[in-house]
Amino acid sequence: TKGSHDHYMRKEIHEQSNALRECLRDRFSTGDSVSLDAIEDGYRPESVHLVACGTSYHAALYGAKLLRKRGIQAQAHLASEYALSPPPVRDGALVVGVTQSGETADTLSALRTATAEGARTLALTNVVDSTAARECDDALYIRSGPEISVAATKTFASQLVTLVLFALQSSGQTSDETERLVSALTELPEHVQRLLETTAAPTTARRFADSSGYFFIGRGVQYPVALEGALKMKEITYEHAEGFAAGELKHGPLALVTEDTPVFVSVVGDDETARKTVANAKEVKARGAPLVAVTDGVSSIDRFADEVLTIPRTNRTLAPILVNVQYQLLAYHTADHLGRDIDKPRNLAKSVTVE
Ligand code: M6R
Repeated sequence: TKGSHDHYMRKEIHEQSNALRECLRDRFSTGDSVSLDAIEDGYRPESVHLVACGTSYHAALYGAKLLRKRGIQAQAHLASEYALSPPPVRDGALVVGVTQSGETADTLSALRTATAEGARTLALTNVVDSTAARECDDALYIRSGPEISVAATKTFASQLVTLVLFALQSSGQTSDETERLVSALTELPEHVQRLLETTAAPTTARRFADSSGYFFIGRGVQYPVALEGALKMKEITYEHAEGFAAGELKHGPLALVTEDTPVFVSVVGDDETARKTVANAKEVKARGAPLVAVTDGVSSIDRFADEVLTIPRTNRTLAPILVNVQYQLLAYHTADHLGRDIDKPRNLAKSVTVE
C-alpha cells in the first residue's frame, strides 16, 4: 500500500535509501573489492554494449561512461534501434540488457539479436525470473523491490549503483580512486535519506509550475540525469521538457530559452567540467531564463542561480544519483500542483510489451 504517501511515486522516491542499502548488501568481499554472484570473479569483457529503453537507457548511458573511464570499450544503445544495425560483436563482447521489468519487448528483442550474433548476455534487472533474466546467460539483480508507479524512480537509482558495482568488478582495477568510490557507495543511502529530509524541491516546483517548458542540462556523468530529469518531468506533468548536454546548448537549443522556461543545471565540485557547465549556465541566465542549480555548493554557481537545490557532498561519480532525487521530487511536486494522475500518466504503461 501507499501508507502515509499520497502516491506510489512519492513512496518509492522515499524508499530509495533502503533500496540502495539492499542493492549494496553483501556485494563487497574484502575491503574495497566488489563481488557480484552473477559474474565470475576475474571475468573481463573485451567490450560491452548496453541496450535499454527510456529511463533504463539513461542508466545505460551512465554505465557506458563509467566502463569507458575504467578502460573498457562500452556503448549504450536504444534497444529499439539496436536490432536494426547491431554493432559488430567481436570475441569477448558482452551485451547487457538494462531493464527494470525484464519484459520490455524492444530490450528482449535486442538481447535476442545479440545472442544470435554470438555475444554473451547479461540481464541487469529488478524482477527475479523475468523473461530477460531467464533468457540471458546471467542475471544481475538491482534488488529495488516492487515499483508500482509507472514513473521509474527508485529502480533508476538502483540501476546506477548496480552499474557502478559492475564497472568496478569487471574492470578489476583497484586504486585509491576505487577505494574512495567504494567508501562513498557505503555512505550513499544516508546521503539520500538526508536529502529527502531537507530538500527544497516542493517550493521550487510550485514557483515554476506554470512555466511554458523546462530544460535540463548537464555535462559528463551529469548528462544522463539531465535526460532523465526531463523525461520524468514530461511523463507525469504533460508539460514540455527536454534534457541537453550542457555543451550542446549553443548549437541550437539556446534559441528555445526564454523568461518562461526555467533551466535546471547540475554542477558538482569545481573542476574543469564544473567550470564549463557554470559558463553554459551563465549563457542561459544572460538570455533571461530562470536558473535552478542543483549543486553540492563547491562551485560559484549558487552565486548567480535564481534557486539552489543542495545535494550532500559525495564522490563525483555518485553525485548524479543525488541530483536525480531532486529532479524526481521537482517532477512529482509540479505534477501534484497541476493535479495530474501521477501514478498512471495518460497513454503510458509500466511495462511496454510491444515493439
Ligand atoms: O522495464 P524497463 O526498464 O525495460 O522499462 C523501460 C522503460 O519503459 C521505462 O524505463 C520507462 O521509460 C519509465 N517507466 C519512465 O519512467
